[in-house]
Amino acid sequence: MFVHHHRRIDQRRSSRSAILQLVSAAAIATSVMLAGGGAAAQQEAGPADGPSDGPRLNQPGKDVQWVPTPPALVEKMLDMAGVTPKDRLVDLGSGDGVLVIAAARRGVRSRGIEYDRGLVDYSRRQAAEAGVDHLTRFVRGDIFKSDFSDATVVTTFLLPSMNLRLRPTLLAMKPGTRIVANTFAIGDWQPDESAAIEPCERWCTALMWIVPARVGGTWITPKGDLILTQRFQHFSGTLGRDPIENGKLRGETISFTAGAAHYTGRVDGDRMRVSAVVDGEAIEWTARPRPPR
Ligand SMILES: C[S@@+](CC[C@H](N)C(=O)[O-])C[C@H]1O[C@@H](n2cnc3c(N)ncnc32)[C@H](O)[C@@H]1O
Repeated sequence: MFVHHHRRIDQRRSSRSAILQLVSAAAIATSVMLAGGGAAAQQEAGPADGPSDGPRLNQPGKDVQWVPTPPALVEKMLDMAGVTPKDRLVDLGSGDGVLVIAAARRGVRSRGIEYDRGLVDYSRRQAAEAGVDHLTRFVRGDIFKSDFSDATVVTTFLLPSMNLRLRPTLLAMKPGTRIVANTFAIGDWQPDESAAIEPCERWCTALMWIVPARVGGTWITPKGDLILTQRFQHFSGTLGRDPIENGKLRGETISFTAGAAHYTGRVDGDRMRVSAVVDGEAIEWTARPRPPR
């Protein structure tokens, strides 16, 4: 208990200090923007800690400053998402383009959305130098005003408050879309996977969420009504008279226990198809949402 308590405090402290590392310059950026200082004032911020024609570490950004994801974590995030050339990746607040370019090196069509014009130009040059500009696109824009609903993989290295603001948009994406973040959570939406790289000093953890199919409501099934209450990738409810246990979604894949049956299956929009083995016998059924009265 004592150890757990201290570990929790340590975790809180380290997550607070991580946020501070990203947040400090955001306040400066906001005051610069409000004062109409713009890009010239941004150039002055932070130590010269990169190539002379490139961005400056910790330079202010619109809602958060620029700090790049370390190369080892970039690869971990892409591994965790399991990207393939069939994917379309978008990095929200793409900085110097490191994630977009690394994904393109794996044959993935990738796009960065970045508010800072200098970073957008720099990323384009970097992509051309890496020979992947045919697979990359860098758009100058505000992530909160951009449409990225076509992406199958979303990457972020943003403040927790920004992740939370994006959450409704992310949850409305196509079920199965993978969201991979450097370090920071999306409120109380628990990640489906997380892993840390070692050895690592700072920015060591990749977190992944898979947009769950939307199943809340009443479904008509041959076993009676399936009434579900959903919270992110978890759900509870009843099937006929039986309570639902261990209700879980991983994208479109669904699993739950009801009565003696452990069901697994898929949700494809307004059709749910599940199967189970009960007393050695395979059963399978399809459910449809009950139309609103
Ligand atoms: C912490 S850096 C991460 C850069 C990159 N994604 C990476 O992982 O290396 C955050 C980036 O978001 C950009 N940014 C901040 N607010 C933004 C907004 N509202 N719209 C677009 N980009 C933004 C900053 O300029 C900065 O480059």
